[in-house]
This record gives sequence, structure tokens and C-alpha cells, in this order.
Amino acid sequence: MCGIIARIGQGEAAETLLSGLENLEYRGYDSAGIAVQNGSGVKVHKTSGEVSDLKSSLDTRPHGNMGIGHTRWSTHGPPTDENAHPHTDTAGDVAVVHNGVIDNYDELRTELGEKGHEFESDTDTEVIPHLIDEYLGTVDDTEEAVRRAVDTLDGSYAIAAIVDGEERVYAARKGSPLVLGLDEAEWYLASDVPAFLDHTDEVIYLEDGDLVVLEPDSYRITDLAGNPVDRPVDTVDWDPEDAGKGGYDHYMLKEIHGQPTALSNTIEGRIDDGDVALDALSPGTFEDVETVQFVACGTSYHAAMYGAQLLRAADVRTDVLRASEYDSMAGPVDEDTLVVAVTQSGETADTLDALRTGADRGARTLAVTNVVGSTAAREADDAVYIRAGPEVGVAATKTYSSQAVTLALLTQRIAGDVPDATPHGDRAAMLETLADLPQQVETVLETTDAEALAEEFLDSQSYFFIGNGLGHSVALEGALKFKEITYEHAEGFASGQLKHGPLALVTEASPVIAVSTGSDDDKTRTNAIEAQSRGAPIVAVGPDDHPLVDVADAHLSVPETHPVWAGLLANVQLQLLSYHAAKLLDRPIDKPRNLAKSVTVE
Ligand code: F6R
Repeated sequence: MCGIIARIGQGEAAETLLSGLENLEYRGYDSAGIAVQNGSGVKVHKTSGEVSDLKSSLDTRPHGNMGIGHTRWSTHGPPTDENAHPHTDTAGDVAVVHNGVIDNYDELRTELGEKGHEFESDTDTEVIPHLIDEYLGTVDDTEEAVRRAVDTLDGSYAIAAIVDGEERVYAARKGSPLVLGLDEAEWYLASDVPAFLDHTDEVIYLEDGDLVVLEPDSYRITDLAGNPVDRPVDTVDWDPEDAGKGGYDHYMLKEIHGQPTALSNTIEGRIDDGDVALDALSPGTFEDVETVQFVACGTSYHAAMYGAQLLRAADVRTDVLRASEYDSMAGPVDEDTLVVAVTQSGETADTLDALRTGADRGARTLAVTNVVGSTAAREADDAVYIRAGPEVGVAATKTYSSQAVTLALLTQRIAGDVPDATPHGDRAAMLETLADLPQQVETVLETTDAEALAEEFLDSQSYFFIGNGLGHSVALEGALKFKEITYEHAEGFASGQLKHGPLALVTEASPVIAVSTGSDDDKTRTNAIEAQSRGAPIVAVGPDDHPLVDVADAHLSVPETHPVWAGLLANVQLQLLSYHAAKLLDRPIDKPRNLAKSVTVE
């Protein structure tokens, strides 16, 4: 969790650090801080609260051409001013920002305490500036002191440090993302590209074990032994506009409305002459695969469920596992197993752990992710990108749609290779109608009644989402989104499961939102009617011709399409329902309490 940034170059650093932090707030927003170096000491400014609180706490911007910054999602210690980053050594000469978790901080803190270091916070991070300071007492060279300090740490980190009197930024990474941005007159380091996308699109994705030294006119990357390391420079094809709100009230609404474009990008060039062409995954790639295991968390898990169901329908042995449960639930894994990690950020700790466990047990691995250069993309044997563009709202929206479509295409690629698999019965029609999906999402966005419905049901006690088959994963995703941003009680169920317990909770104050993906979905209709006879209002979400629509109390309509895509259109209606309910309830939609976008702790 947390976002870090560093900047060195001509001109003032503070404003760039602060605006960069705003673009990283999706990674955490319970405290923020910067440290700027201007030749008269390292000046630290930090506070609990959001970056806007930090900005308003500064009467003027501190001067200095270099500095570091941090936006926090607490793991060790509550969100207080003291626990906010940057942290410093006792004298305040070394300042550090950190994303990750230092596992051996307890013993380091004890050892350093015995040597006279004084600690002010509850954080694991604070040991790092003290360690650097301690090594500065034994070696002349700061780079060497940083190297030794980093080498002493167990755990995960992306770190940036500045030292009084030096015109340099030191940084290192292991297990947490860190990207170097290269502009003509300045260098940046950040947890993610949007932090500096306004300034440059030239980047270097750093690898675990890299140590970086930035000076105003040069940068140097070495390994932990001090050997020079050469990393390629990439150009990011994201538009700086993508990282802003673009006139919408919230990032979430902007990203919901960005889905037609995101989906067009996801699909572009991937359907070739009635077949699926997916990046480097040429035909035959999966011919040795016997079992596919999808691993993912949260919304990505729901997208994985979508893909898994299509793969099962193609007669491929398929599991879909919550990444945090992989250890206990994976069952037999060998070299004929393909582990597919579905992760928007590519940095979710649980998902990375499952990916690594699968690889350790001999499985082939594949990452399906939005972030080029992310840890999942780099560690997996292969990577497929969902091409949704940057997503800032903590509640995932466009990345779910792009994941589900990418996975649907992937399943057809896999089913084409695996012996005895049977690709989708009407695969040609399925692939052909996919081209219409972006326009159909546009239609939903233009015609939706979600706002009026959100208002009509605003005083409800609970919200139940049901769906069958592909609609089941959409119902789960609808409920997750609803609870995440409205803070109202919402649960998702397989339609047929409602009568096995949850029905006891159904009253006239608990609307049942029933997702239908095809006209033959009798289970959803029957179970919705059962809830209705207990007084619950029914909202049908799906195509107009579904028999459910005739009995429902309200309807969120989606255009006629292939049943494989109908659920994704229904999901857009559910995103809008959650958004409008949360807005009417005046919730902080882009920054729901207790959540962060990228969960890099297990
Ligand atoms: C919910 C949400 C989370 C993420 C989950 C996995 O709106 O965004 O449930 O889906 O934390 O994140 P990634 O996809 O980055 O692995």
C-alpha cells in the first residue's frame, strides 16, 4: 500500500511532489507528507489526512529542487501525524519514504535503540533512515550506506531517501513497484506512472534488487553489490488526461464513462479472421495444459469467475481460487497446470503470493493485468494486458469490464490449444458481437435509469443481488461495488441459493436486484418471484426480452447482445446504481473508508 514519489532537477520540487501525490492517492489517503532539501537542511512537512490537508497546512511551498513524498495507507500504526512519512533519523538529516512492509523492523528497532537511536513513530519504516544513519557512521560513501541498509531489511520495499547536504535521491526496490520517469530537465521516481505523467512518458520499470542514484543531470542503476545494471527505457502510451477527472465529479464516474474507449482498446487487433490473437500467445502455447487455475482477489476475482465459467463451458478443467486461499485450496498442481493471475494493478500481495506458489509447484504462469512492468507481469511466464488505461477510483469499474473481455478472449485461445477442449459453440457469433460491445455500453450510459432507481430504493435495509451462471459473478460484483462505496449492507448470491438461507432476511425493505444474461435463465426468474412473494421489490437487470422483466417491479435495461456479453452490460447498470446511491448518501466515492486500490500486504 502507499504511494511514493521523488523528484530532482531544475526549479522547485514541492509543487510537483504534491500534484504527483494527488495522482497516487488511490494507493492510500490516510496521511501524506513531503521532505524537500534546499541546502539548509532537510525540511519535512507531514500530516494525517489527505494530500489536500497537507497542501492547506503549508502556508507557502518549501523551497528546494529535490525532494520525496508519500501518501499512506496504514499498516503499522494508526494514521497520525507522527506515523505519516517521510521519516527521519534522530538528527533529521536522512529522510525516507517507503511503500511495503519491513518484516524484521522489531529486531532492528531494538538493536538501533540500544545504539542510541530515538524513534518517534509506530511504523516499520522509521528503522530505515536510522539504519542509513548508522551505516553512515561506518562508511564514507552514502550510496554504500544506503546499500548496506537496504541489504539489512527483510520484507518488501520501494524506498526513496534524501540526505542533508547532498544533491541526490537514493532509491531501491524489492517487492513493491518503483518506476523511474525521465524528463529533459528532471528525474522522477514513483510507485506508479500517473504520478509524473504530466511531465514525461519515458520510463524505466525498476526490478527487485535495483538501487538507483539520481543527480540533477544523471541517473545510475546498480544491483545491491554495486554492479551497474542496464534497464530499457519504455514509452508509456497513457494520455496525461487519463489521469485527471476530465470534468466528471468523480474518477469513478469518469472511469464508468471511459468503458467504451477502454473496451475498444481491449479488443483492438485481437480478433483476427474469426480467431483470437492475444499478444505473444501464439497458437499452440497452451497445448500441454490440462488444468487452468485462475487466482485473483475482489473485483478481479469476479472477472476471473466470468472467464473460468467460459473455460469450463469449453470442457477445460478449471478452478477459480481466491488468491488468499491458494495455499489451502489449490489441490494438485504440476507442470500441466496453468496458473492465471488476474490483477488490475499487478501488485496485489495475495495474488502475487498465489502466482509464486503455483510457479514453485511447477505450474506455468500467466498474468492478466492492466499495468505494463508490474510485478505480476514481470514474474509470470507470460503476460496479457487488458489495456483499460489508468484507473484511479478505488472501486474498480473499467478494469473489470476489460478484464472480463480479455479473459473471454483468452479462454478461446486456451480452448483452441488444449486437446479435447471445445471452443464456444457459436464462437464466431460471440466474437463478432464483441465488436458492438463498446457502442452498447455507450447506449447503457446514455439511457440508464440507475439514478432514479437508486433514489427510489435509498431507504432500504439491505440490497440482495442475484444471478445465475455468468450472471452470478456479475451479482457478486454488483454487491461488492454497492457495499464498497455506499457503506450499505449488500450481498450477492447465486440465484438458486437465495432459498437456502438468505431468504430469511428478505423483506419489503430489501430490494432484490436480479441479473439476467439470457432468456433461458429460469432460475433467476423463479427465485426472484419467491423473494417478491415475501414482499421484496424486484429490479430486473438485463435484456428486455427476459421473462423476468414482465414480473419485475423495475427494470434496468441492456441492449440485445450475445449472452456472453449481456452480463457485462448489466454490470455497467450496477456500477451506475452503486455510484448514484453513494452520491445521494454523500459518500467519498473515490476514496471509500478503510480501502486502498492496491493492496500490497497479505
Ligand atoms: C474493488 C476492488 C478490489 C480489487 C482487489 C484486487 O472495487 O478494486 O476488490 O479488485 O483488491 O486488486 P487487483 O486487481 O489490483 O489485484
